[in-house]
Formats: sequence, C-alpha cells, structure tokens
Amino acid sequence: MIVNIDQNLCTGCGICGDICPRHILEIITRNDEKKVIVSPERSHLCLKCGHCVAVCPGSCIKVVGLKSEEFIPIKESGIHSDQLLSLLSQRRSIRRYKDKPIPRDKIHQIVKAAHMAPTGTASKSTGIIVIDKPQILSAFSEHIYKIYEDLEKNLKNPIARFFIKRQIGKKKYRSLLDFVMPGMHWYIHWYKQGKSNEILRDCPALMLFHSPIFEPMGSENCLVSAFHAIMMAQVVGIGTCFNDLIPPACNMVPEIRKLLDLPEDREIYSSITMGYSKYRFNQNPQRRLAEFRYID
Ligand SMILES: Cc1cc2nc3c(=O)[nH]c(=O)nc-3n(C[C@H](O)[C@H](O)[C@H](O)COP(=O)(O)O)c2cc1C
Repeated sequence: MIVNIDQNLCTGCGICGDICPRHILEIITRNDEKKVIVSPERSHLCLKCGHCVAVCPGSCIKVVGLKSEEFIPIKESGIHSDQLLSLLSQRRSIRRYKDKPIPRDKIHQIVKAAHMAPTGTASKSTGIIVIDKPQILSAFSEHIYKIYEDLEKNLKNPIARFFIKRQIGKKKYRSLLDFVMPGMHWYIHWYKQGKSNEILRDCPALMLFHSPIFEPMGSENCLVSAFHAIMMAQVVGIGTCFNDLIPPACNMVPEIRKLLDLPEDREIYSSITMGYSKYRFNQNPQRRLAEFRYID
C-alpha cells in the first residue's frame, strides 16, 4: 500500500481525507470507532503530495517514498503583505550583467526556492541544469547562434518554410516570423561582429528547467519553478530574465543536448539568464492587468 495509516494512533478525525486531492482516504466506523482507511478502489490515484502526512494531528500516516525527515515544520513566515508586494513590484527583467561570477552558494539558494514550486500532478520530475562556466556558456552560445542562423536561411526557402510551419504549428510559426526572427537577424549580426551576445547576454549563469516530454504539466511546472527561482534570485541580489529563445534550440540541437547531457525523454521548457545587474533601476512603471472584476 502506498499510504499506510497506523490504526492504533488514528482517531478518525478525517482531516487527511478532507484535504486529499485524489480522495483516496475514507472514514469508516469499526467497533463504534471512527477510523480512516485507504480506499481500495482509489489507492492507486495517490499523487504522493504528502498533504495527509503533513496535516495529520497524530502523525499516524506514512506515504511510501516520502521520508519523515523530509518534512519540515511549518513556522509563521513573518512576511507582511506589503513586503511581498514591494518585492514583486521591484522585480525587473535584468538583461545586462556585471562580469562577475555568482557564488554557488547563492545559486544553491535560488535552486532551493525553485525546488519548492508547486507542480501539476504533484510530480517531482522537474530538473534544473546550471551553466556557470564561461567557456561552456561560450560553446553553448555558438550552438544557439548556429541554429538560429540556419533557421533564418531556411525561412527564406518556401519548401523549408512549409515544413517548419507544419512542425511547430501556426501560432508558433507566426510568432517566429513576426516577433522572434526580425530581432534575431540583428542578434546574429552583432554576435558575428563580436559586438554583443543578445541571446545569452553574457550572463555569468544560465539556469535551465527541464521535464519529461510526457509529463502532463511539464512546461507549466518548469515555468512556475523558474519564477520561484527568479524571486529568490531577487532576494539574494541577483538579476534574472526569462529567455524563450534558448529552450527550443536546446531541444532541437543534438550537440546542445549532448553538452547538457539531457536525456532523450526530456526537454528544456524554461530558461533564465542570471547575474549581478549592471545598472540600477530607480523607478518602475505601473504594471496593469487587462482587467480585474468580480461577477456579483
Ligand atoms: C513567460 C515569459 C517569457 C519571457 N521571455 C522573455 C524572453 O525570451 N526574452 C526577454 O528578454 N524577456 C522575456 N521575458 C521578460 C518580459 O519581456 C518582461 O517580463 C516584460 O517585458 C516586463 O518587464 P519586467 O519583467 O522588467 O517587469 C519573458 C517574461 C515571461 C513572463
């Protein structure tokens, strides 16, 4: 059984069953006593999210694969809503970095936060790869520019264009033509001139988030995890920027897959460049939603 309940300790309070996202725990009455049991019909639906273990007042639940030492006691966060809003409002995408390495203890802090991100289906399948060695970043850049240069050439050929459109779908194709490639033309030009690297932006570290191809919420998991990383990075004084140009290139180019040692069944879904911000932002524009309303 995946979930084991110590029936000697269980008081049948049922809190575990109430919060179980997959409804696998049921209250039964046995000898006039309430007890919680694992539903024989639904036990296989368990996500191993650990909610039942975390909430049980009597510590009587164990889930196979979740070690008790991995559960951390919950303390008051002590964070005031104004502090969180201030943190969120001060975050900016940082695209210019100081030529200064990020100490790995800071990277570990950032990864720790990424690690705590919620995941669809409570999966623990998100992986993170960090490249913080200049020579590897430089080799990585070479491959990335090569693929975009080839893509630019291929997009000029109607037959190749047809196959690219069929492969990536109409929506991505339009975004490629209307948004990505017009800027990319210049990025390639400047890179070849040795003027600048507008894809990796000479970042001292690149963080890549990967997930199994068949993970139902893999790309969303990577994005949420990346955002956790971004917020922690801000707290420890590191600027970040999402980068959508890097993941597709990583997934397509065998040399990059090899460089990353990325297993065949995984893809990179999010990436963030990171480093100490070269410049200081003195003010931020108001961010607005398209709308916010209630239905009353
Ligand atoms: C999902 C997502 C993808 C993004 N991709 C890129 C990207 O590929 N390159 C880039 O320079 N910025 C990227 N950004 C950053 C946005 O351009 C940026 O958030 C936006 O311009 C607002 O600026 P701010 O982050 O400084 O508030 C991305 C942001 C999000 C949320």
